[in-house]
Amino acid sequence: MKIDIISAVPELLDSPLNYSIVQRAKEKNLVDINVINLHDYGLNKYKQIDDTQYGGGAGMVLMVEPLYNCIMDLKRETVYDEIIYLTPDGDTYNQKTANSLSLKGNLLLICGHYKGVDERIREHLVTLEISVGDYVLSGGEIAAAILTDSIVRLIPGVINDIESALSDSFQDDLLSPPVYTRPADFKGWKVPDILLSGHDQKIGDWRLEQSIRRTEERRPDLLKE
Ligand code: ADE
Repeated sequence: MKIDIISAVPELLDSPLNYSIVQRAKEKNLVDINVINLHDYGLNKYKQIDDTQYGGGAGMVLMVEPLYNCIMDLKRETVYDEIIYLTPDGDTYNQKTANSLSLKGNLLLICGHYKGVDERIREHLVTLEISVGDYVLSGGEIAAAILTDSIVRLIPGVINDIESALSDSFQDDLLSPPVYTRPADFKGWKVPDILLSGHDQKIGDWRLEQSIRRTEERRPDLLKE
């Protein structure tokens, strides 16, 4: 799988993409991630990438031409399954979308900045618009990091124990059950006896019951779905 990310502030993506599970996936060649600096496509001697909006109003807009040139350059090299613009007015991201994107071959993510991108990029080049929640970030980079992380961990072979990814919260519209590790008794705070019983069937039943209870208490909307 290949994920290309266009950004005006590529430094923001340094640590999310270079550590932990995403880094390991890159080392195993299970994913190829490239961050493209939009400033490389800036116009004139100032390498301009943004301008004030037509019609007036506060805030700068990423210009159509640098983004267009950048996307066209990338499209000459790669056929993308989706060209995704990260924006607070996009479709709200969830595990189902992560699952479906993890099955794609090549993705291009576009990070907005300031007031966003010139609408013509969205109209003519973007195939999917995604929001990571009902709040406004300073740019799309953190949202792109969220997408990348949540997608990469689902690629077969990335997480050694595939059960671990499949048993995450949301995978079956249920939250995860509580988890514990050693010691079994910490200052009188005890691990539930059932988990120490060695009885796999009973442990499985207990976990499912805990998942359902947690989901009912915290996210009843998931059960309705
Ligand atoms: N850019 C700014 N805010 C965002 C959000 N909530 N989701 C995706 N991209 C964004």
